[in-house]
Amino acid sequence: MRVLGIETSCDETALAIVKKNDNGEFEVEKHLLASQVLVHSKFGGVVPEVAAREHIASIFPMLDELGIEKDGQGIDAIAVTAGPGLVPALRIGVELGKVLAWVWKKPLIAVNHLEGHIYSVWAHSTPIFPALCLLVSGGHTELILMKDHGDYEIIGMTRDDAAGEAFDKVAKLLDLGYPGGPAIAKLAEQGNPREIDFPRPMIDTDDYDFSFSGLKTAVKREVAEMSQKAQMAERENIAASFQAAVVETLVTKTMRAVEKYQPKSVILSGGVSANQSLRSSLKEILNKQCPEISFHAPELFLTGDNAIMIAIAGIYHAMKNEFIDPLTLVADPNMRLV
Ligand code: KG4
Ligand code: ZN
Repeated sequence: MRVLGIETSCDETALAIVKKNDNGEFEVEKHLLASQVLVHSKFGGVVPEVAAREHIASIFPMLDELGIEKDGQGIDAIAVTAGPGLVPALRIGVELGKVLAWVWKKPLIAVNHLEGHIYSVWAHSTPIFPALCLLVSGGHTELILMKDHGDYEIIGMTRDDAAGEAFDKVAKLLDLGYPGGPAIAKLAEQGNPREIDFPRPMIDTDDYDFSFSGLKTAVKREVAEMSQKAQMAERENIAASFQAAVVETLVTKTMRAVEKYQPKSVILSGGVSANQSLRSSLKEILNKQCPEISFHAPELFLTGDNAIMIAIAGIYHAMKNEFIDPLTLVADPNMRLV
């Protein structure tokens, strides 16, 4: 089965052709990505209408570049991100998917963006169910118990800011530009993570929820109390101490969920899964405490938004004949996983 994946939920325009071979392995035949990061960095964040305009400018030349026959020959289905995300941005991909499905007479699959992030690890591995997934992105921070393909239970989520959002906001406080995650992670390499004792929000609560807005406020207070000179001198330590607080909170809560739900595998995914400190901390503690549980994180090029993960999630839906009528599909900014 060969599926065309389309992703335009935020600031990356992405197309991919992924094939599921007879041996069950996924083969990425083609994948294209046009990042809008430079455009949005001027505004300090993603501007939805600008994102939509950029998607339109990129997506047709990209479709051309894929070199698919004019009648869609060779493609078995089309998988498109239908939500959650920014409506003006989502609509570009959704409308393209609908038109192609209609003209080529191919089945259409509506993929949830979060589900896409989870399936990013299937590109290179096969987690065993039940799998516990820590999904950390710019808009979401969730602990999800995946009992089978398409069978999700959300066991915890952030009550305010997402982890990636906290990275982006703290980066703004430190004048590091957008997106903040990679910039904070780089700066943190030169800092001392134990220099400032930032709070670990909700780390001891008897649930699997998160809260990162108080941590961001604590950083804001710390920065406000410093002179301009001290801020420059302490930036590395602030970045390292903030990152350590986020990582410790995420890892501690995930391990508590592992203890309770006894999964066979743990999946770390979403944009923040690119963070090396988070990847190595979770992997290390899991290997040490529960060596029988396998750990899966996407390859670095699959941590951010891409269409490969959307195509793979789409293939699993297609195998269960879960298709949608192109005449009824609409972009849903609040699309839920369950
Ligand atoms: O999954 P993603 O590409 O888009 C959403 O679906 O939200 O995630 C983007 C988020 C941004 O907040 C970005 O700052 C964060 O992922 N991020 C990181 C790193 N790389 C990207 N956060 C921490 N460390 C990183 N290395
Ligand atoms: Zn994403």
